[in-house]
Amino acid sequence: MKPGYKTIYEQYRHSITSGLLKPGDKVPSVRVLASELGVARKTVETAWAILVGEGYLVSQGARGTRVNPDLSLGGEKKNLPTAQNGDLPLSMAETLRDQSGFLRLGIPSLDAFPYKKWLLLSGKAVRSMQPVEMTNPPLMGYAPLREAIAHYVNISRGLSCSADQIFITSGYNHNLRLILSALGKPDDKVLFEDPGYYFGQQTLKRIASNLHFAPVDNHGLKVDYIQQYHRDARFVFVTPSHQSPLAVTLSLPRKQQLLDWAQQNESWIIEDDYDGEFHYTRKVLPALKSLDTQDRVIYMGTFSKTVMPALRISYLVMPRACVAQFRETGEQTESGQPVLTQKILAAFMGEGHFFRHLKKMRTLYSQRRKTMLAALEQVYPGMFNIEVSDGGMHIIALLRTSTQDVRLAQIWQQHQLQVSPLSRWYNQNPKRYGLIMGYTNVRSAQEAIALLQRPAQETRALLSVE
Ligand SMILES: Cc1ncc(COP(=O)(O)O)c(C=O)c1O
Repeated sequence: MKPGYKTIYEQYRHSITSGLLKPGDKVPSVRVLASELGVARKTVETAWAILVGEGYLVSQGARGTRVNPDLSLGGEKKNLPTAQNGDLPLSMAETLRDQSGFLRLGIPSLDAFPYKKWLLLSGKAVRSMQPVEMTNPPLMGYAPLREAIAHYVNISRGLSCSADQIFITSGYNHNLRLILSALGKPDDKVLFEDPGYYFGQQTLKRIASNLHFAPVDNHGLKVDYIQQYHRDARFVFVTPSHQSPLAVTLSLPRKQQLLDWAQQNESWIIEDDYDGEFHYTRKVLPALKSLDTQDRVIYMGTFSKTVMPALRISYLVMPRACVAQFRETGEQTESGQPVLTQKILAAFMGEGHFFRHLKKMRTLYSQRRKTMLAALEQVYPGMFNIEVSDGGMHIIALLRTSTQDVRLAQIWQQHQLQVSPLSRWYNQNPKRYGLIMGYTNVRSAQEAIALLQRPAQETRALLSVE
């Protein structure tokens, strides 16, 4: 059977990522390869166009087409295509390939990570390991990192906490378990946003026996609903800066209403500030915690969006009155986080690289978002409704009339576009339907268009049938 464009594309992509074809190597001309394979020129042209769009190949006019010379290893300028994890060496990219794909949610721009700097700091951190740092890691985290985080959240997120309120953890699930075991009882009522962070719901469904959902509208979590139906809730999980997934901001009156309710009921608000750093059209808003005069908010931050998810470093800001409770729980259930990564991150923050990186990412994300929005309109004119929010790291393309977002997401996933169907993030009706897509690793308009065109035929067929 004659190969289609997809087979040719995949074979060449594999040859490049496996190192069989090296940066700068020439690939056959369209004419030569088409005649060799006995296929139409158009077939080869399509495969080449996608590989060019994704950055694997560069077309040099009369001089032919080559493997992108910028794919060389090492150094900050190295430029591997997104699905192969940006700035990482090829061998690592290969092992990550199973889980990779395009348009993934919540992955920072890996091609823009200051890899050289990180390498330098890593070397320093290893060389400076003291014997005492090789014993048991400190339960609540490496002291210089706790200091650096306290400094950062006070300056950037408007908090006023001290380093001894910081508890370093390994991520969202760790935070949930730690909070509930330090402050909760088995049948405490827990409230979660609807729609809400998909993976958070999955975890809570397993560990919280009395879990309920409260709706979200354009002003964020509906606090009236809580007051009406769940006054007795003990924990409320909320994403006030950019609601996950709708990306709306919790309005100031609702923030106040929520804080007042928590104060009156002695309930805990858990603020998940997972990507609060990324606002593009106005100044970054201070966290809800910055308004919390009664210390009812437990603040959760993560480096997954600002540095990289694989780091597995996140943190809690504990209310002052609860530090001892967290410590006592921690002594029984925790064993601390790896010191080495904490050391590297502490230096990254302490030397100002973190702030610089954030600033750079804000500009980059704002550009990439624009590019992606334009590409969506170009490839799918009028097919989606997009409510552009002020920030965040994803776009929601709402279906106009169809409710088939699960089917549509499956189609896109078959083309390695790892989008998520919005309706799956809801527990109650009414639901909204659409595709949630990350754009932070889409590096050019050309790439955005090439990616979006992959499922275009099937998408049009599905949506026009409705
Ligand atoms: C809403 C939300 N909260 C928290 C996180 C961070 O999770 P973690 O720190 O475990 O990587 C994410 C990451 O995807 C998220 O989307």
